[in-house]
Amino acid sequence: MTIKAVVFDAYGTLYDVQSVADVTEEAFPGYGEIITQVWRIKQLEYSWLRSLMRRYQNFAVVTREALAYTLASLGLQYDDATFVRIIEKYLHLDLYPDALTALSAMKDRKLAILSNGSPDMLDALVKNSGLDSVLDAVISVDAKKMFKPSPEVYALIEEALHVPPAEVLFISSNPWDVCGAKAFGLNVAWIERVSPEAMALACLESETLPPLTMFKILRTQMDELGVTADHRIHALAELPALVSGIRS
Ligand code: LAC
Repeated sequence: MTIKAVVFDAYGTLYDVQSVADVTEEAFPGYGEIITQVWRIKQLEYSWLRSLMRRYQNFAVVTREALAYTLASLGLQYDDATFVRIIEKYLHLDLYPDALTALSAMKDRKLAILSNGSPDMLDALVKNSGLDSVLDAVISVDAKKMFKPSPEVYALIEEALHVPPAEVLFISSNPWDVCGAKAFGLNVAWIERVSPEAMALACLESETLPPLTMFKILRTQMDELGVTADHRIHALAELPALVSGIRS
């Protein structure tokens, strides 16, 4: 069996969610980092809570509500224009520098995104970053009105690409997403961008943990959910060699 489709998580895997930090800092000098981290943590939390509550709203709504929570929780005042300026960055997130080259090197497979993002958000992001030239499909969980890591949304890959799970390699740097995809039955590669050793050092080096370190501890280290990724890489650049070497 070879890999016929390589499917990527979007936020945090192909696109750097930390790249909102310039905009948040510009809008609220001195608060950029804490806003950036609390916003992403709450965004994911709300996606899971809404799934459990069966009160689905799309990821654009969840992202707005998470930002509103973040600013209110920090006691920050703002006008609509400031809010819109920050939110708009989600349509222009930075691509990881090795993303385009890695995807271009795997054009002999079907390439797609499976993301919590709403179709509008994803279409704009993919177009603005130029990935529309290499992707065969952009799949949003919105069709199922449920967020990852719910099993039914991973089933969208086969529905959209007509490739069975055994021939799909799913790539994510988000540990909870890796666990969800693996529990569903996909082949999964985890991008471990931050090592536990780097985390240990970061904790030793500062008496009070910067918000980014706390974020990395919470959201970049592998979760204890009883499943293990099939492959562990450290950057998108390692993917083409991994994909061409997978045979069973
Ligand atoms: C995604 C986010 C949640 O699904 O990482 O793209």
